[in-house]
Amino acid sequence: MAGFNPFRLVEQTGVAAWVREDALAFPVLEAVHVSAVMLVFGSICMMDLRLLGAASLSQPVTRLSDEVLPWTWTAFAVAVVSGSLLMSGQAGAYAVNAQFQLKMALMLAAGCNMALFHFGVWRGVDAWDRAVAPPARAKLAGFLSLALWIGVIVAGRWVGWTFSASPF
Ligand code: HEM
Repeated sequence: MAGFNPFRLVEQTGVAAWVREDALAFPVLEAVHVSAVMLVFGSICMMDLRLLGAASLSQPVTRLSDEVLPWTWTAFAVAVVSGSLLMSGQAGAYAVNAQFQLKMALMLAAGCNMALFHFGVWRGVDAWDRAVAPPARAKLAGFLSLALWIGVIVAGRWVGWTFSASPF
């Protein structure tokens, strides 16, 4: 018998019932989720390609980051809310789904990479703000970020192909 899964409690809320039962709820939420995901990944790509010295080379790194990151964070907030709503209908089953767990782990790793970058090489950005080729540690952060976010997208898509659990 499966152990206690606190995510099962979420399934008993009215919102979760709506996501499960309304014919339009899941597809509309998924469309919102995918649109937000597109904006998260697109804006992160702009930053990462600049860090790799591959695009937007005429722009100082700090200027690009000031202009692009507010879009990233806003879209990420929409992705978290829409993703949580999508999850709510069958929260317990998603929580134990291996592909879903992989997606969350990759997102956590992307967050750690971002934090290491922010508290590391970013502190000295004034010295390489306009450099066409940023320092190796910045390039590595950009490369890891791209790889991890692509992983999040692959795992997110994979969930839909493996997920067949029924709450009943
Ligand atoms: C806390 C945050 C998030 C939660 C709880 C969440 C949850 C979900 C859920 C429940 C699904 C539906 C899976 C299914 O079809 O059964 C989904 C789909 C997906 N998610 Fe997320 N998600 C979150 C954030 C993100 C982020 C930040 C990204 C990528 C940048 C992402 C990428 C995707 C992708 C690519 C899909 C597949 C869409 C499709 O099949 O059409 N998710 N997510």
